[in-house]
Amino acid sequence: MHTPLSNRLKNPNMTKPETQTDSQNHFLLDNHLPEIGLQAMREEVMEGLKDTPRCIPSKYFYDREGSALFEEITRLPEYYLSRTEKAILSTLWNKLAIDAHNLHIIELGSGDCSKIQLLLREIPANALSTVTYHPVDISSNVLKESAGKLTQQFPHLTVHGLVADFMHQIHLLPHAHKRLFCFFGSTIGNFGKSEINALMERLGTLMTNGDYLLLGLDMIKEIDVLEAAYNDKQGVTERFNKNMLKVVNELLGADFHPGLFNHRAFYNEENHRIEMHLDAREDMMVTFGFNNSTIEIKAGENIHTENSHKFDRGHIRNMGEMAGLSVGHVFTDPEEWFSLVLYSKQAVPKKPGGS
Ligand code: SAH
Ligand code: AVI
Repeated sequence: MHTPLSNRLKNPNMTKPETQTDSQNHFLLDNHLPEIGLQAMREEVMEGLKDTPRCIPSKYFYDREGSALFEEITRLPEYYLSRTEKAILSTLWNKLAIDAHNLHIIELGSGDCSKIQLLLREIPANALSTVTYHPVDISSNVLKESAGKLTQQFPHLTVHGLVADFMHQIHLLPHAHKRLFCFFGSTIGNFGKSEINALMERLGTLMTNGDYLLLGLDMIKEIDVLEAAYNDKQGVTERFNKNMLKVVNELLGADFHPGLFNHRAFYNEENHRIEMHLDAREDMMVTFGFNNSTIEIKAGENIHTENSHKFDRGHIRNMGEMAGLSVGHVFTDPEEWFSLVLYSKQAVPKKPGGS
C-alpha cells in the first residue's frame, strides 16, 4: 500500500527550492514542487484512478491550457462566480480596515492574480511600497506570467511567489509578523469536506494574533443557476474537464482518448456541491507508460474530476470554529450569491451595518 502524499511530505527533504527571478529582478519565485516529486504525483493519480468510484484530484486541471481554459470560463455569461466576487472586491479594501504597512499578503491558488489587483490598487502608494505579496499556486507557468504582469502594474510592490501544493506544503507559507491570507474564487470548495476542515484547521493553527484570512465562498442558490455555470453553452467547461485527461497522459505516459468521454456536471443537493465527472462512452483499456500497467474502463463508468462545494452562513460559522477563528464580517452581493468572509485570529468588533 502507498503512503499518502501528505504523510510523505511531513518530513520533506531539505533540498533548496529552485529560485527564479525575472530579468529585471522584480520578483522572486521559489519552486517547491520538486520536493513532492514526479513519482509521488503519479502514484497519487494512479491511486485515484483505481479507486471506486474512480477520481482524479482537481489540481490536475491546471497545466498551461487548463489555466487558460479556466480564465475563459471566468468570462462566460453563465459563470457568475468571478464577476460577482470581483464586484465585491472592487470596493472592499477600505472596508477591511487593515493597516497595509509592512503587510504580507499570501494568496492561495492565485491563478491570474486578477482578483488581488482589485485590493492592491486601493492601497495608498506609500503603504503599498512596504507590502510583500506572496502568490502561491501549483501552476508555475501561470504564476510566472501573472507575477510578471503584476510587477509591471505595481512597480513598487515586492512579489515573492511560491510554486507549491498548499494542501501538502502549507508549512512552506511565509512566517511573517502581519499577514493577510487570501483564498479567492471558492477554490476551497474544490476539496472534499474533510480536506476543507483540515485546511481550515491548519490555517487557523499557523495564523497568529493580528493575521487575517479573507475567504471567497460561492453560496447555495437555485439549482438551475448552479448547474448552468458548469454546463455552459459554448462547451468551455467541457473542454476544461476533458483537458485533465491530457494532463494525466503527459504525467503518467498514459493514452486516454478525451473524445471517448462525456462531460457531466450536476448539483448534488445532499452534499451541497456541483460534481463534475467524465463518463466513458465505450469499453476501453488505458495504458500507463510510467509503470507499464493497464486499467480497463467499462462503458458508463465515470471518473469524478471535481467537487465544487456551495456554502451558507452556517458553514461560514462552522469553518471559523473549526479553525479557531472569529468571523469579522461577511461581505456579499445583494442576492448573496457569493461571499467574502473576513476571519481573524482574535475577536473583532462587529461593524455597524454588517451582518
Ligand atoms: N484564485 C483565482 C484562480 C482560481 S482557479 C480565481 O479566483 O480566479 C484555482 C487555482 O488554484 C488554479 O490557479 C490552480 O492552479 C490552483 N490550485 C489548485 N489546487 C492547488 C493546490 N493544491 N495547491 C496550489 N495551487 C492549487
Ligand atoms: C477554481 N474553482 C473554484 C472553479 C469552480 O467553480 O469550482 C473551477 C471550475 N470548475 C468548473 N468550472 C470552474
